[in-house]
Amino acid sequence: MAQIIDGKAISAQIKEELKEKVKGLKAAGKEITLAVIQVGEDPASTVYVNNKKKACEYVGIRSLAYNLPESVREAELLQLIEELNAREDVNGILVQLPLPVGIEEDKVIRSIAPEKDVDGFHPGNVGALCIGEPGFLPCTPAGIIQMLKRSGISIEGKECVVVGRSNIVGKPMSLLLLRENGTVTVAHSRTKDLKAVTRRADILVAAVGKPKMITREYVKEGAVVIDVGIHRMENNKLCGDVDYADVEPVCSAITPVPGGVGPMTVAMLMYNCVESLNLQAR
Ligand code: GUN
Repeated sequence: MAQIIDGKAISAQIKEELKEKVKGLKAAGKEITLAVIQVGEDPASTVYVNNKKKACEYVGIRSLAYNLPESVREAELLQLIEELNAREDVNGILVQLPLPVGIEEDKVIRSIAPEKDVDGFHPGNVGALCIGEPGFLPCTPAGIIQMLKRSGISIEGKECVVVGRSNIVGKPMSLLLLRENGTVTVAHSRTKDLKAVTRRADILVAAVGKPKMITREYVKEGAVVIDVGIHRMENNKLCGDVDYADVEPVCSAITPVPGGVGPMTVAMLMYNCVESLNLQAR
């Protein structure tokens, strides 16, 4: 039987720790504020944004919600970010992605002050991660490192294979595993003989965006399997990039979907909001 890595429980533990920390900060007169911007009404984004606001409330972080219409002009969004950058009472700024067609995501991300970029998407934070300087870590990959550590799974010296090379998950995931002294391979849609590559992995991170693509033929016996995907199936149930029922019997540990990586992303966002005080004091 594989160890089920319970992201919901680990994220609850992290939020509990942060709640205590925030209580202490409040007693010392320090309040943390996160500005959350949603453009349009994509239903999945609305769910994610609501989860983030709820987590803020739980941990004791003030959240400011900005809901802009789908038709908003890029200039108007950039103007709002500029105002939030300048506000001393705002510690973190998050723009929920994806943005509607016609708004340049890169430009918006770059406009957020790096010391308020709690998503860790700004090139300044990406560069800091790359060379090991202090900065915000992207929430999903940082959450995966926490899941592994808190489940007693060591990374040092392990063969780690990340499938997917997105800026949000694949690339930063590979850098974080490297920082933990893993031996890291990044595979992607153009990788030749993907199964041969993924079968080398002691730790396999699937961030491909294809429902149930990773079956047991991709997995070495006893591997740790981390599933970043989340997809709604025709029967309305959620599934990941990993075919859980097929893979679970052959691996040593696995994250479920839902209740695996997803809740960790929100917990690490809360962590980054608390961390913003340290980065802003530098
Ligand atoms: N869309 C999907 N994942 C994320 C995330 O981690 N942050 C933001 N801002 N948007 C997302």
